Amino acid sequence: MAVMIREGQDLDIQQIQSLYHHAPWAKGRGLDGIKRMLENTDYVFSAWDGPRLIGFARILTDRIYRATLWDVVVHPDYQGQGVGEALIKTILSHPVLSKVQKFWLNTRDKQAFYERFGFVRSDQGMVRDRATKGDCCD
Ligand SMILES: CC(C)(COP(=O)(O)OP(=O)(O)OC[C@H]1O[C@@H](n2cnc3c(N)ncnc32)[C@H](O)[C@@H]1OP(=O)(O)O)[C@@H](O)C(=O)NCCC(=O)NCCS
Repeated sequence: MAVMIREGQDLDIQQIQSLYHHAPWAKGRGLDGIKRMLENTDYVFSAWDGPRLIGFARILTDRIYRATLWDVVVHPDYQGQGVGEALIKTILSHPVLSKVQKFWLNTRDKQAFYERFGFVRSDQGMVRDRATKGDCCD
């Protein structure tokens, strides 16, 4: 399978809604909300198998000190095949995002997945500090 990772907001919101159906926290989101979310998100990353949207992640950031990672989801048909890893590595090695001091994310039960990329568990969620992790990605 040749998976392509893309950056950019120009996505079909119905495809995002279908993908969100597989994420417990996002399955109720409507098209208007998703459209507004896209317009107001700093960086959007998507994974593709040909024309099929199979993965998604997005970033809110000031582009220097802080960035938060949201809505990481890979379609169940494609989980366990390296798509999530490709998304996170693309984000952490992005020319602008790789310079951001601290990344933060929240997860109920996927801590072990994010630890692979240098995120550390903390009281406020999971944090990745560039000062201790370098430019990404070993
Ligand atoms: C979590 C998720 C994004 C991972 O994506 P994925 O494409 O299945 O993961 P990958 O195939 O890229 O996995 C890369 C590596 O991480 C490991 N990994 C994947 N999920 C893991 C988990 N939950 N805990 C620990 N390790 C995990 C894989 O085993 C793989 O290791 P390997 O290279 O040694 O074989 C995906 O399972 C998903 O979308 N889940 C539903 C939505 C969700 O819960 N998202 C996270 C919100 S915080």
